[in-house]
Amino acid sequence: MTKKNRHTEEFIPFNLVVFGGDGDLALRKIYPALFHRDQDGQFLTDYNVIAVTRKNVSGSSFNENLLKFLKESAEEDTSENDITIFSKKVQLIQVAEANESAYLELAAYLNKFPSYQNIFYFSTPSSAFGPIAETLKSTGLIKKNSKVVLEKPLGYSLESSNEINIQITKAFSEKQIYRIDHYLGKETVQNLMVLRFANNLFERAWDSEHIDNIQITVSESLGVEKRAAYYDNSGALLDMVQNHLLQLLCLVAMEPPHLLEADEVRNEKLKVLRALRPISKKNVANDTVKGQYTRGNIKGEQVNSYLEDIEEYQSKTETFVAIKAYVDNWRWKNVPFYIRTGKRMIKRYSEIVINFKEVRHNIFPSKEKLNNNKLIIRLQPEERIELVQMTKVPGPGGYRYKPIALKLDYIDSFKERFPEAYERLIIDVIRGNQTLFMRQDELQAAWSWIESITSSWKSTGQNNVLYEAGTWGPGDDILEENDSWITKSWRDQ
Ligand code: BG6
Repeated sequence: MTKKNRHTEEFIPFNLVVFGGDGDLALRKIYPALFHRDQDGQFLTDYNVIAVTRKNVSGSSFNENLLKFLKESAEEDTSENDITIFSKKVQLIQVAEANESAYLELAAYLNKFPSYQNIFYFSTPSSAFGPIAETLKSTGLIKKNSKVVLEKPLGYSLESSNEINIQITKAFSEKQIYRIDHYLGKETVQNLMVLRFANNLFERAWDSEHIDNIQITVSESLGVEKRAAYYDNSGALLDMVQNHLLQLLCLVAMEPPHLLEADEVRNEKLKVLRALRPISKKNVANDTVKGQYTRGNIKGEQVNSYLEDIEEYQSKTETFVAIKAYVDNWRWKNVPFYIRTGKRMIKRYSEIVINFKEVRHNIFPSKEKLNNNKLIIRLQPEERIELVQMTKVPGPGGYRYKPIALKLDYIDSFKERFPEAYERLIIDVIRGNQTLFMRQDELQAAWSWIESITSSWKSTGQNNVLYEAGTWGPGDDILEENDSWITKSWRDQ
């Protein structure tokens, strides 16, 4: 793709310093995202990328690896030369530990560009965040216009997340902190805002008067991959619900902000998080299901159980979770939000379904069931919106009707390249737009609600329901004993 100079925003020249710069996330997501935006002609300014690593990695092997990932993610018509030029922009600097003398080379490099903004991207375990921030501060590398990007997990509990925040805010102010949740960078997730707030049709019916229930599902066919140690400490609740699914829920449930500005949007999301009804010991067995996958078959391939995957046979970590949640406010009185996510499910499939209420009175003589309207917002694998509505079946036989979907395929409707979530988020950091990043009070509210679940699980000793890998998760039979809500329209889509 040729450079287009489509965008006219001003960018302050920047140094992007990626700690954990030779890690998987940096190679797979961060550098390719920058490269794509560079190819789109969005950087009308100069910039440097510095990959910081603690390991003793040679520049040439890093570069080889980087080229491999850039090529994999490049558009078909991208020139090899452009890839090589970009890869040369990424400087590898080894910083063995967090102390001033180890930071000398990094400081010398950054100080060559005194007018540039320094953006520090922490793509390391969160235990390293505090020491890195402290050393950056004592080395004088944090300027007024510097920023820090924090990757999840931001702790494992409210307390540990607060602790990370205390350490980070010794060096950076809230206005400089960008807590990333890549779900917010997905095009279809951003489209939720447009769908809700740019279409009068939906907003008028977006409440408990008209909506019966809302279902948010993120199913993955992948297992824990190479992240056994991390995952076994988190589980599906902390890995997916605490951040991604709650952010989706916020966008669906929040009030319209009066302006599309960072704090206006975040204030509204915060209100939703604070209004989430805590899950108590009394209702946890009824309102949550936790599960763990056993051996199974995915796309014809035999896959291991979770316990075999992590080689830790006593683990009680959940790889599936489903929760019936309520947002206790005026708009959502008694509307259940069914949220669920799991690893090693039958396929990668994410969607938000708004199930509207039945019509108030059926005038049709057959009295055949009238299905509810459904608005389906499919996020993955294909991006599409469907509005399911009752439609008359043509021909004789009186009024016969059937649910038919009006479909909007996002990709077919727009011929543009579909950007990766990280592209949008990194650009927003560079430009200083915090709208799509979590504020500390949001994070705290999310943790408080999550802790109502973890503590209830702990005190009731709730067990995992086992489910076979390659299925839709815990089966009806078991769930029905619990409560049949979980499978409601789970499989009929
Ligand atoms: C990450 C989780 O945040 O999101 C992973 O840590 C998960 O476990 C991933 O696989 C899912 O992201 P996506 O964009 O593939 O749906």
